[in-house]
Amino acid sequence: MQQDVLEEKYREKLSRSGQLYEAARKIIPDGIAHDIRYSEPFPVYITHASGSRKWDVDGNEYIDYFGGHGALLLGHQHPQVVEAVAEQIRKGTHFGACHPLEVEWARLVTSLVPGADLVRFTSSGTEATLLALRLTRAFTGRERVVKLDAHFHGWHDAVVPGGDSARSPGVPRGTLECTRLCPPNDAQALEAALAEQPTAAIIVEPSGASFGRVPVRPGFLAEARELATRYGAMLIFDEVITGFRLAPGGAQEYYGVTADLVTMGKIVSGGLPGGAVAGRRDIMGLLEMKHGLGKVSHPGTFNGNPLSAAAGVATLKIIATGEPIASANARNAALVEGLNRVIAAKGLDWCAYGHASIFQIAMNSDCAKKNDCDRTVCTYDWQKLRNHDRPRELKLRRNMLLNGVDFVGSGGWVSAAHSERDIKETIKAFELSVVQM
Ligand SMILES: Cc1ncc(COP(=O)(O)O)c(C=O)c1O
Repeated sequence: MQQDVLEEKYREKLSRSGQLYEAARKIIPDGIAHDIRYSEPFPVYITHASGSRKWDVDGNEYIDYFGGHGALLLGHQHPQVVEAVAEQIRKGTHFGACHPLEVEWARLVTSLVPGADLVRFTSSGTEATLLALRLTRAFTGRERVVKLDAHFHGWHDAVVPGGDSARSPGVPRGTLECTRLCPPNDAQALEAALAEQPTAAIIVEPSGASFGRVPVRPGFLAEARELATRYGAMLIFDEVITGFRLAPGGAQEYYGVTADLVTMGKIVSGGLPGGAVAGRRDIMGLLEMKHGLGKVSHPGTFNGNPLSAAAGVATLKIIATGEPIASANARNAALVEGLNRVIAAKGLDWCAYGHASIFQIAMNSDCAKKNDCDRTVCTYDWQKLRNHDRPRELKLRRNMLLNGVDFVGSGGWVSAAHSERDIKETIKAFELSVVQM
């Protein structure tokens, strides 16, 4: 089908979204609140969601794989989470004080996350990586940090290098110079970087770059652990995506590698705004007042907010059983398998891959190993995986929306709320979408 016909169909089916977008773009840059929500010809406007589904302002229904940017492992509106938040909202949303739920929340986090002697809550994942880097700089007395190319850690200045807009204007040169980029999965390059200059921290996404777009090479995390220890740098696992998703104890439990600090977000606060840093007592302890002027500063109006705490506690209690993870993982495996069946049947040079409850589709894969691979760990050229064809990806997302499914570009997160029927319908929608493309 002609792309302009499809665009016309999209404009018709999502006409109210189009009207809202026209109003929004006059007062909000690009009409969006997060760069990833940019869409062509315009984004979809959602009114409500439940379980694995969400509905837009035109009444269209979607199977949702955006999952609150990966925050909703339990799906939308899990009854226990809704109940916990409703109960808390009746008691108050902000006491400007400590409250009992934050103690329970901290107990859950420190009991689930390996090596978490102490935890401090933040208001987002970005704030968590900002605080973790500050803590390691204070602890080591070193300024430079090593970040892996294409790995994403939020939008604060120190982690801009190697992101989608690698040299975002507005970031001071001095800050950029303090972040040393290394290619992902390359222990030799990492060692060379550490040998160059004393380093405070190595920060990594343990799923691999951009929620597993460039999957982590087996063994790399253990090598990074060994190198960090050898060169006196702290190892930070940014578990904003992997925390409570790969395993109740996150990537540390899943891969059997312990970091010095772990950053969390998304699932930790049950789909409400929040984040956390946890880890070694000697590093985390630098937040304590007893250090006087040597204390690491960490204010934040909404840190440990009671509503986020209520959602976080309810969510983590359910995740601790292991059931939601097992269910989401099984559905994800079925989805990846089904997507690859369609890809093979249509003779496309694409490839679906992913592990745990995360999936990705490479739309430019001339990978020779495609038919000899378990689709969980991809060793294909990382630059090619990373440089996905954005216009094509936007078209896939638009077509999937037309066919009743919301992907995160060409990937997404499966939740425990997705059913067998959801997966079957998604594979059907994918088949239809690729034919249309
Ligand atoms: C690995 C990782 N770190 C940090 C962040 C930033 O978290 P937030 O969007 O809550 O600031 C994200 C967000 O997607 C992420 O995926």
